[in-house]
Amino acid sequence: MDWEKIVFEKVNRELLDFLDKSPTSFHAVANMGAMLENAGYEHLLEGRPWQLKSGQGYYVTRNNSALIAFRIPKPDFMGFQIMASHSDSPALKIKDNAEIQVEKKYVKLNVEKYGGLLCSPWLDRPLSVAGRVVVRTMKGVEERLVHVDRDLLVIPNLAIHLNRKVNEGYEFNAQRDLLPLFGDGEAANGFRSLIAGEAGVEEKDLLDMDLFLYNRMKGTVLGLNGEFIAAPHLDDLQCAFASLKGFLDAKPVKSAAVFCVLDNEEVGSGTKQGADSTFLRDVLHRINGALGRTQEEYLMALTSSFMVSADNAHSIHPNQPDKGDPTNRPFMNDGIVIKYSANQKYTTDAVSGALFKSICERAKVPYQVFFNRSDMLGGSTLGNISNSQVALNTVDIGLPQLAMHSCYETAGSKDTLYLAEAAKVFYSSAVYGEGDGTYQIL
Ligand code: CO
Repeated sequence: MDWEKIVFEKVNRELLDFLDKSPTSFHAVANMGAMLENAGYEHLLEGRPWQLKSGQGYYVTRNNSALIAFRIPKPDFMGFQIMASHSDSPALKIKDNAEIQVEKKYVKLNVEKYGGLLCSPWLDRPLSVAGRVVVRTMKGVEERLVHVDRDLLVIPNLAIHLNRKVNEGYEFNAQRDLLPLFGDGEAANGFRSLIAGEAGVEEKDLLDMDLFLYNRMKGTVLGLNGEFIAAPHLDDLQCAFASLKGFLDAKPVKSAAVFCVLDNEEVGSGTKQGADSTFLRDVLHRINGALGRTQEEYLMALTSSFMVSADNAHSIHPNQPDKGDPTNRPFMNDGIVIKYSANQKYTTDAVSGALFKSICERAKVPYQVFFNRSDMLGGSTLGNISNSQVALNTVDIGLPQLAMHSCYETAGSKDTLYLAEAAKVFYSSAVYGEGDGTYQIL
């Protein structure tokens, strides 16, 4: 029992450390790239020829905010075992010409919403700025990561005395209510020079930026017995981290293991680095081609392939338990959530659900089931979007959490390890099928 507790604690420490270092999708991808390189994976570029060897691991990034890693077993492979999650989270993004002066006494920054964020948690807490900038160099232009690692900004609430009715419900106006305070009158013209300094260039060479606000509060473990974790970006970096851990620990024997983390899920996945792009399809085709396989062999491999779309799920809420489905009640620490929707917002069907349950049983990991209440719409994810590019049996799963899309979310302290263990077994297995309705899990 103590041994078990130590293992869970170790995984949570690693997860919280990863989250603290990953304030944006760009940082998450850079950190995952470093983990892969440490494990001996070779970095491929999309713009160069690929010479692939069986038994070796590789990874490739797109836009520095999406990443696909893969490992091909020796001597050959049957299909692809794919897990996909997303690197982005809802946030406030900084606009160009960001500074707004208020009566020469304040400087605030102009921001817009990225994705469907819960607004109120962003107020009255230390915030800072991170992301990617593009700078002019001797050779052309170059992307650089920026992370202002100190308390810098705050979005102050209006005092209750000035809006007595605020607790009866408040509609946030993004242009008025969500602009962060950057400094007093002296801070004027300070923002670009701060960012240029962080990027190591002169202000004139700072050409453009993708910068986001992030919550400075670090992740923590809480609950009487440490049963919960709370941190920014659990949706969906908890799944990304757990599946990468399982991927790195796996021993692929009969199928190629493919780890995917895609960007822009929170805004519909429709970018070149999102699930609705050709990224996954391109990588699978290149693996196929580089190993001298035909197009027919590629299509045959897809029937023996399986995809796990891993994106966090809603746990039953302690204060509003009636928001959940009456008979399917997922709770934190009760295992991986398999998500179903008759309208196929989630890709899970009886086949993919059964195959994934078999994987969990093999991994000795608990699983549970999520449906929306029949009178509620719920969210969407990347599984069904990705299937329009690469069509294969797919299951939608996630880890149970509270306060999804807050800048500080809560999850179970056991579930990250459960998913890592299931991912390890998943990536070490193969699902053989010829399209006749029977499947062998090898
Ligand atoms: Co998500």
